Amino acid sequence: MDITFLLNGEVVSLTGVSPTMTLLDWLRETRHLTGTKEGCNEGDCGACSVMISDDQGHRALNGCILFLPQINGKSVTTVEGLSASDGSLHPVQQTMIDHHGSQCGFCTPGFAVTMATDHLNGATDHDTQLAGNLCRCTGYAPIIRAAKAAEAAPVPAHLRNLKLPDGPKSSGGPAQPDGGGQPPAPARPTTTDELAHWYPDHPDATLIAGATDVGLWVTKQFRDLGPVVFLNQIPDLRGIADGGDHWRIGAATTLATLTAHFAPLYPSLGAMLRRYGSAQVRNAATIGGNIANGSPIGDGPPALIAMGATLHLRHGDTRRSLPLEDFFIDYGKQDRAPGEFVEAITVPKLPTGRGDTLRCYKISKRFDQDISALCGCINITRAGDVITDARIAFGGMAGTPKRASQTEALLINQPFDEATIRRAMDALALDYQPMTDMRASAQYRLLTAQNLLLRYLHDVNGLPTNLHEVTA
Ligand SMILES: Cc1cc2nc3c(=O)[nH]c(=O)nc-3n(C[C@H](O)[C@H](O)[C@H](O)COP(=O)(O)OP(=O)(O)OC[C@H]3O[C@@H](n4cnc5c(N)ncnc54)[C@H](O)[C@@H]3O)c2cc1C
Ligand code: FES
Ligand code: FES
Repeated sequence: MDITFLLNGEVVSLTGVSPTMTLLDWLRETRHLTGTKEGCNEGDCGACSVMISDDQGHRALNGCILFLPQINGKSVTTVEGLSASDGSLHPVQQTMIDHHGSQCGFCTPGFAVTMATDHLNGATDHDTQLAGNLCRCTGYAPIIRAAKAAEAAPVPAHLRNLKLPDGPKSSGGPAQPDGGGQPPAPARPTTTDELAHWYPDHPDATLIAGATDVGLWVTKQFRDLGPVVFLNQIPDLRGIADGGDHWRIGAATTLATLTAHFAPLYPSLGAMLRRYGSAQVRNAATIGGNIANGSPIGDGPPALIAMGATLHLRHGDTRRSLPLEDFFIDYGKQDRAPGEFVEAITVPKLPTGRGDTLRCYKISKRFDQDISALCGCINITRAGDVITDARIAFGGMAGTPKRASQTEALLINQPFDEATIRRAMDALALDYQPMTDMRASAQYRLLTAQNLLLRYLHDVNGLPTNLHEVTA
């Protein structure tokens, strides 16, 4: 497989690269650019952060779960590329020194790259942007101070106008079969149609979107993926389109794009998505991957189910649609045929402003960068004080993301008051028999889910319910 990209301003063209070689490994082992560190090798610590730039802007990504083909046609800036050619430091490097933001220094390159990316983007929500960078010894206050102190400094000239490699950004196209009984070369379709026509002939291929799951299959499970197809070079598979009474979300839309779009419309959804992984994870992870992996603890599906989402699947030129909740058949089993892929999700437009009825509650041990013990999303519609519709979905409460059908049925035509909600809390035990695992006990999960219904009542009635004390 051949790829071309810019590395700290220099054009790099590689031939015959392994499609599952990570950028981190390549930087360190082949280029000996060892400033980019390997901490966890699974997207959790940010020590491997790199800045990726393309026609969609600049973003920090975790190099440890970024495969080389995913950077084709893009510009990569590592910590070695932050300072100018005359050796002068990037403003965030200088303020890290000034504010004593580093002790052992292992995390520092990753922080500096994320901070430089935010500096370039003019982002000042440092707590959010840096939640994916872990530091074990300095403490975060000096680092946040350093980020704030650099805000007003001008972007260094060499980063102001980062260029992209000349030539097509999406080279590749459909895979050609290799000779000698080898598996086909990795496919890099550039349109959804191309993917749709290729995939049924290669139903065993692994689709790679953001690689925030698939990356770990390689770095942690050492799996040989066999044939692979990359989805990141298909512009018409990503983005959110206004369909009048609904939104159409392309499967390859990242969680970052989803958050930016929906946070102003549905603040509770935005607040939940802001706690989905970290900035680096949200910049890579796609909503199609989050659904297709069928995880019972994914945060996207409960929210989308509560919103009334429809899933659109495609096999060749054949398309079918189903309510998202019906896609999840059982643990590890989804309603997806070989050669079929997630093309899009549509969600009806819900009331916004004072009429906003959607609430999403992510419960996890850590506030930031943690997988949910449970995630409850509730959307109750009323006419006056009478409940006319209820959509309630939970992750972490069953082998799949699951609707609370019996609870919902009990709510319809009832007054929206505490007595009704308390009956619904009892009914929730009929819908869910959660399990105990390292994240939470079954008892904790059920009790918490029940209490989230009560929280919803108070929340939409305007009572203060958010008591977390993690603030900037
Ligand atoms: C550090 C870290 C933190 C995380 N935190 C969270 C979190 O807080 N909440 C959460 O929900 N998840 C979290 N995740 C999990 C992960 O981000 C999601 O599941 C993610 O959305 C997967 O999307 P992706 O594009 O990266 O998928 P990939 O890894 O590329 O693919 C995942 C699976 O989906 C398949 N697939 C991808 N796209 C399609 C498609 N269009 N059609 C059919 N199949 C497809 C792939 O073949 C693969 O089986 C975290 C992961 C990491 C590494
Ligand atoms: S090494 Fe920890 S996120 Fe990459
Ligand atoms: S300075 Fe040691 S881990 Fe951050």
